[in-house]
Amino acid sequence: MGFYTSLMEEITFYTGLSPTAFFTVLAMMVVVYRTVSSMFVSPEDYNKPPVVSARAHPQFDHPEPPRQPVQLGQVTDRELRAYDGSDPNKPLLMAIKGQIYDVSTGRNFYGPGGPYAMFAGKECSRALSLLSFKPEDINGDLEGLGESELTILEDWEFKFIEKYPKVGVLIPEQRTQQNELTEQVQDNLENPNEYKDETK
Ligand code: HEM
Repeated sequence: MGFYTSLMEEITFYTGLSPTAFFTVLAMMVVVYRTVSSMFVSPEDYNKPPVVSARAHPQFDHPEPPRQPVQLGQVTDRELRAYDGSDPNKPLLMAIKGQIYDVSTGRNFYGPGGPYAMFAGKECSRALSLLSFKPEDINGDLEGLGESELTILEDWEFKFIEKYPKVGVLIPEQRTQQNELTEQVQDNLENPNEYKDETK
């Protein structure tokens, strides 16, 4: 108790303030100091790399390695359709003027739900030259297009050459007996309920 009393007397003696006023002023100074110093970054923290929470960004937990484009060579329209983004393990492909581009890095545009998803897995020359989203225009038919439309198509082609790797060329479907048989087997596998034994 003696220590407490003499401490209070010392405070009053040295500061000229009552102990209550002294502690109030002290508390206010601490608050002001903490508020002001929280507005600045300490020099050590300033030089540290930013801390990114893996919980907030789960992709940093298991970063996906960048996928190397696979060269496909010659592909038919029918085969190209398998690369429309419905299988996340396959690249997203799109063809312009018979050249096939891997547009996987543009998944936001062409992936499922994207604004240009209708172009994925398709030859889109006609649609791009006409600036059309109509399903009947999403093909490689350049019949009846004017000069200005062909220039628009060329601009698109340049954009794609610059932005995406070329991974193959489109070849016409060959209606060989072997192909027809393979397609029939594929269709039967995909729609077993509609299976027809064509040999009977
Ligand atoms: C209201 C009209 C449209 C708006 C506002 C619009 C907007 C955009 C924007 C903001 C981009 C991104 C550009 C960039 O990243 O450099 C883009 C890209 C694109 N747009 Fe459009 N667009 C429109 C119409 C069309 C039409 C009519 C077509 C074709 C039929 C089309 C096909 C594309 C394609 C293919 C891309 C390229 C995506 C890529 O970089 O791979 N757009 N559009």
